[in-house]
Amino acid sequence: MQVYDAVVVGGGAVGMASARALAQAGLSVAVIDRGRLGGEASSAAAGMLGAQLEAHAPDAFYHLCRASRAMYPEFAASLLEETGIDIEWVENGILQLARTEEDALALKSRMRWQRASGDRADWLEAAAVRDMERGVAEDVIGALYLPRDGNVHVPRLSAALRAAVVRTCAVVEGEEVIAVERDGAHWRVRGARDVYAAERVVIAAGAWSSPLLRALGVPLEVRPVKGQMFAIRPPGGAALRRTVYDAGTYLVPKRDGTVVIGATEEPEAGYDKRNTVDGLAALAAKALMAVPGLRGGEWLRAWSGLRPRLTGEAIDPVIGPWPGAEGLILAVGHFRNGVLLAPITGRMVTAAALGLAPEPLWLSFWPESRAAAFGR
Ligand code: GLY
Repeated sequence: MQVYDAVVVGGGAVGMASARALAQAGLSVAVIDRGRLGGEASSAAAGMLGAQLEAHAPDAFYHLCRASRAMYPEFAASLLEETGIDIEWVENGILQLARTEEDALALKSRMRWQRASGDRADWLEAAAVRDMERGVAEDVIGALYLPRDGNVHVPRLSAALRAAVVRTCAVVEGEEVIAVERDGAHWRVRGARDVYAAERVVIAAGAWSSPLLRALGVPLEVRPVKGQMFAIRPPGGAALRRTVYDAGTYLVPKRDGTVVIGATEEPEAGYDKRNTVDGLAALAAKALMAVPGLRGGEWLRAWSGLRPRLTGEAIDPVIGPWPGAEGLILAVGHFRNGVLLAPITGRMVTAAALGLAPEPLWLSFWPESRAAAFGR
């Protein structure tokens, strides 16, 4: 039986970026997915690279998000060169709207700590916001503009990563991994059809990671948090250029002029990915409150995805080698930021696989340094 240097369980953006990086480091890699590579949360996401948007304090998570965002230009260029697929990376900026003085104060405080960290963040008064995006609501009193937060086209990202992985790794699609066990010197990854032997195993199964973690004795649980989304084509002449974010709802313009709008957060839905009338109606109402200029836009389609969120944890992932289990590497709990954090996760997983010391920036996510929080 072939013994791979690494088997990656889960072929979402995180698993594929990890597999690609491991293969680039010269390792023989297999990726196993229960469905099709990139078929779940990774292609459902809106593709925002919201490093500044998604962070709530100048903490390690913020700096990790920034570091991964900074990797995107090269990540996009190298994927294009390798696969011919353009992931449509754009640095189009995000406008975070304020409707009340309280919103404005909170956003200005965000602006100050982000500037102090060396990021660009600008306060725009109402007129300047409407100059930038004329469809924005009249009652908006200002906005925080984050010019460096961009976005990518996630179906293209998934296709590019899949093409890169297919070129360099063994790919097994449509096979559920039932167990991951230590067998003497190697790991045995038991799939529904076959068994795969490996020196290292990377758990990157998104919202489906929990049963594997439990069986491995890793006291972490990942739960699905459903997000419903839809896409529209704006009415004639009403194109959006920047991403607009208003109280949890975002409108992300894509290069072809369509706008992806998300997202609900429904932990109670479990693994039920159905779109619901009430979920989409509420989302559409919020979107049109933010940008009334999109009224009359053409409905294109709706879908949903399951964000993988660690329970008992905040919003950040665990990435790195699991202590006491040689060759077991985790890349779990990316929650709202799997696409954003995919490039840096690939780098961290590869460092873990090669036995390198973590960079200081990674320490807060490295399992060993978070072991106390897991009750070990
Ligand atoms: N990254 C945005 C979301 O998960 O809704």
